[in-house]
Parts: sequence; structure tokens; C-alpha cells
Amino acid sequence: MIMLYFSGTGNSKYIAGQFCRHMDAECYSIEENLDFDAMITGEETIGFCYPVFFSRPPRIMREFAIKHMEALKGKKLILFCTQLILSGDAARSFMDMFPPGHAEVLYAEHFFMPNNVTNYWFLPDALISDKKVLKITARADRKMLTVCRDIKAGKVKKRGFNPISRALGLIQAALLPGTERKAAAPNAIRIKNGCTNCGICAAVCPMGNLNSDSGKIEHRHNCTLCYRCINKCPQKAITAVFHGKVKKQYLFGSRR
Ligand SMILES: Cc1cc2nc3c(=O)[nH]c(=O)nc-3n(C[C@H](O)[C@H](O)[C@H](O)COP(=O)(O)O)c2cc1C
Ligand code: SF4
Ligand code: SF4
Repeated sequence: MIMLYFSGTGNSKYIAGQFCRHMDAECYSIEENLDFDAMITGEETIGFCYPVFFSRPPRIMREFAIKHMEALKGKKLILFCTQLILSGDAARSFMDMFPPGHAEVLYAEHFFMPNNVTNYWFLPDALISDKKVLKITARADRKMLTVCRDIKAGKVKKRGFNPISRALGLIQAALLPGTERKAAAPNAIRIKNGCTNCGICAAVCPMGNLNSDSGKIEHRHNCTLCYRCINKCPQKAITAVFHGKVKKQYLFGSRR
């Protein structure tokens, strides 16, 4: 079994890693330069782990699944999502990219993880402490133990597939197209005074969306809204689509 993950700020990487540790599976980021078609073809069961973005997988994960659709035909899937508050049918919606019956879902689960959108004070834990991060991840660790026990025992569970989750997911996902249009707009990325043109944001962007060559940060209208640059800029100078002031950054995920 292999687990393939996308993680903007480390939460999904953490969950994917914990799963692989317990299940003795191999764990790969979809950002790696690997022959994923060959890897997927060689396995019976493929895991995917990604953050919930408006009850859907982030665009980078959707594009990955579509690119490798042929290799995924007939595979058994384990789907994990990481979330802050409400995930609707984020795991189920992974299957929307395939024709009916294309692959079989063995297990799907959502994990509460710490907030990575820290530039809005009204979101829970926008100014999260290290202690709270440990508490939340410890709870996710306990859930993962149960999940791994279930999977080893052949128990099938599909979080997010019931009608209530689907309805909640539809409501949340209504916000997605507009947000993704904004992420592709000329003014999607804002650089504030204080930018030193250090290039860190460009180096860490999973989409190659940022460029510092001209002496100032420019973007290629290709943001997947992962919040990585926002949380990693040493000057707290960059925002994408949601331009609240960056007070505290979420760095815990990327330290692990
Ligand atoms: C653009 C964006 C949209 C998000 N939408 C949701 C959401 O609809 N529901 C939710 O519970 N969390 C939402 N989150 C929070 C993330 O899913 C959560 O913090 C996740 O664990 C981040 O994972 P990562 O560190 O692997 O990127 C959103 C985060 C971002 C950046
Ligand atoms: S990481 Fe921040 S300071 Fe460095 S180039 Fe990007 S926006 Fe500017
Ligand atoms: S520009 Fe920033 S938020 Fe957008 S994809 Fe790149 S790193 Fe993520």
C-alpha cells in the first residue's frame, strides 16, 4: 500500500505519516518528482490524504487524481482529509473526479487538525498556542490508532458519504468556484511593505506560482490556496485571496 498526500502547511503530511508508520506503508508527497503512474499501477490499495478546502480536495490534488485516472482504475482507495471545523463530504468528493465504479473506497475519514488560516481572528484558534496544537494532534493520533485497527480488521467506514455530509458539502462547496476564480485573478497575491525579496515564498510554492526574478514577487495566476507562503514568509508580507493581516503564522506542521 502507498499513501500519497498533499499538504500545504504540514497537517495532512502528519496524518499521512502517522498512518504509514502504523501500517508499514510508504508515504509520498504528490509534489515529488516520481513516476506516480508506475507506482500506482504496482499497488492494489492507494491512500490519499489532503486538506479540506470548502469541503473539496484542493485543486492541486484534483489535478493529480485526474492526471493519474487511468492508473487508478480498479484500485482500492483509502481517503483521509484534514480539517479545521467542517468538512462536509470532502472525502467522498474525491470520487467526483472519476466515472462511477472507477475505483472502490475501502475507508474514508476526516481528522480535525490545527488551524492554518491564521490571518482571521474570528476563526477558531487563529492565534493557536503550541500547547493547543499538541492537544489537537494527540486527539488525531488516537483517532488514527482506531482507523488503523479498523483497516487491519477489514472494517469499512466511509466518513462524508452520508446524505447529511453531502448536503453540508454542497453548501460549503458553493464558495469554491468563486474563490478559485479569485485565486487566478491578477490581484490574487498581495505583497505588503516589508518584503525583502528573499524568495522563500517562491521556493516553497507547490504550484511554482511565485517568481522573485524581477526583484519583486510576481505570480502566474496559478495559486492552489495552500497557505504555505503566507505561513512561511519571514516578514509576514504575503497574502493570497484572503488578505487579513498576518499576525501569527502556523509553523508547527512544517516543523514536524
Ligand atoms: C483555502 C482554505 C480553505 C479551507 N476550507 C476549510 C473548510 O471548508 N473546512 C474546514 O474544516 N477547514 C478548512 N480549511 C482548513 C484546512 O483544511 C486545515 O487546516 C488543514 O488541516 C490544513 O492542512 P495542511 O496543513 O495539510 O495544508 C481550509 C484551509 C484553507 C487554506
Ligand atoms: S517570503 Fe516574504 S519577504 Fe520573502 S520574497 Fe516572499 S513575500 Fe517577500
Ligand atoms: S502562492 Fe502561496 S498560497 Fe498560493 S499555491 Fe503558492 S504557496 Fe500556496
